[in-house]
Amino acid sequence: MTFYRTQGRCMILLAVFLTVGSQQKKPDEKEFICPEGAGNGNFADPATCRRFYQCVDGFPYLNRCPSGLYFDDINKLCTFKNEARCGPISTTPAPITEPPVDLAKKCDTSSCELPYCFCSRDGTRIPGNLDPEDTPQIILMTFDGAINLNNFDHYQRVFTSDRKNPNGCPIRGTFFVAHEYSNYHMIERLAHDGHEIGTETISLQQGLQDKGYEEWVGEMIGMREILRHFANISKSDVVGMRAPYLKPGRNTQYEVLEDFGYIYDSSVGIPPLKVPIWPYTLDYKIPHECRSGTCPSRTFQGIWEVPLNAHYVETYEGGHCPYLDQCVLHSHDPDEVFEWLQEDFNRYYLQNRAPYMMPFHTNWFQIKELERGLHKFLDWTKTLPDVWIVTITQALVWMTDPRSAKNLNTFDAWNCAKRQNIPPPACNLPNSCALSFRPPEANVSSTRYLVTCRECPVRYPWLGDSGGTGVDGTDVYNPEN
Ligand SMILES: *[C@@H]1O[C@H](CO)[C@@H](O)[C@H](O)[C@H]1NC(C)=O
Ligand SMILES: *[C@@H]1O[C@H](CO)[C@@H](O)[C@H](O)[C@H]1NC(C)=O
Repeated sequence: MTFYRTQGRCMILLAVFLTVGSQQKKPDEKEFICPEGAGNGNFADPATCRRFYQCVDGFPYLNRCPSGLYFDDINKLCTFKNEARCGPISTTPAPITEPPVDLAKKCDTSSCELPYCFCSRDGTRIPGNLDPEDTPQIILMTFDGAINLNNFDHYQRVFTSDRKNPNGCPIRGTFFVAHEYSNYHMIERLAHDGHEIGTETISLQQGLQDKGYEEWVGEMIGMREILRHFANISKSDVVGMRAPYLKPGRNTQYEVLEDFGYIYDSSVGIPPLKVPIWPYTLDYKIPHECRSGTCPSRTFQGIWEVPLNAHYVETYEGGHCPYLDQCVLHSHDPDEVFEWLQEDFNRYYLQNRAPYMMPFHTNWFQIKELERGLHKFLDWTKTLPDVWIVTITQALVWMTDPRSAKNLNTFDAWNCAKRQNIPPPACNLPNSCALSFRPPEANVSSTRYLVTCRECPVRYPWLGDSGGTGVDGTDVYNPEN
């Protein structure tokens, strides 16, 4: 795999901070204002030593220390009570070490070149200046959330062995895994079959887009660690991220991507457009309106965004949606679902051949007509000579090295004969672990089942304890530089 990345700044994380509870303040608490001229960083909460604020570009994000720990205003981290020097402690303002906010500029095609950089003025240009008819039509099937008995067999039926790409290899998809209720034996099997595993988050907490760096590290990198512990998925194979509810975490989430060796994000939704947008690197300004309002505002060199174009048909029947299961097709029969998908797909296939992403939750597969319509659609795409259903990483490898649709049967990244990078097979008889779990807001413990080929952990893995060791806040995640 050839990816070229420049690493951003390095941050050393000494402890994993957790956010518990809401951001609501009591009426007598004043709104926190980030100190002017002090740059980005962590600041003591004047009201309590249990909390602190992370200031990013002048915006304060409320953070809470993990249970039992207190914020030390000298070292700016959470530590044991007897070691914590509660703030605010007045100091002479430190010199600004952060560079000023570097708001991204408009795409400059003369200095943005593959394989390092890819952009176009309106985002619709084909990489390598290929003609549409020479461009393979990529389909990206993505599945978000937990993987378990509710959906595994449905997903397996999408990827049956008779659905093949033009080079004879089986079609493949990308799974953005969330932790709670996931079955790690099933995930290990998907990875062994050659599907891509990316991270959503551990807790799927709401409002993560307004949280700080440590929360994103805890959620994303913690999720990656859980996959490593319980599905034997190597860290280096997890290179993609999707933010819950398609709410990217402004610049903060992308700093985590950069610091921890991720290659791409796929969380940015696009309003309905006549011509779809291709994936792009974040060297320049995002070439479209940002639906969520929480897109990154500065440059992240070489980090790819694989955006979610809106799905819709000319009549707007069913509405428009980033996730296919959010369009209202429920009353349709399988043929109507098929025709709807076909029209939506043709906007890509008959124009600029941007990758056609099909983002799903489990919901789609719980309605028979939708599932059957999808199967009809996939069977139809297999009659087209230049349609490839590959993982997001495979698609990005093609984008860094674009070549004509005629020369792809020998393209290594899409070849399944070379399986040296595929994870080993999962075990036949996994452990089914009944583990105690106390959701952060609840009084009582409940039981969660975790199925894995590894030993059962002591308790249900969660934020700060990805190994399920039973000790709060044991995890330390260091940026990889
Ligand atoms: C985990 O994966 C590595 C390679 O990715 C392999 O060498 C090792 O045997 C696997 N462990 C188990 C228990 O399957
Ligand atoms: C927690 O416990 C208190 C009293 O012990 C009870 O009133 C409250 O309803 C409980 N909350 C939840 C979410 O169970």
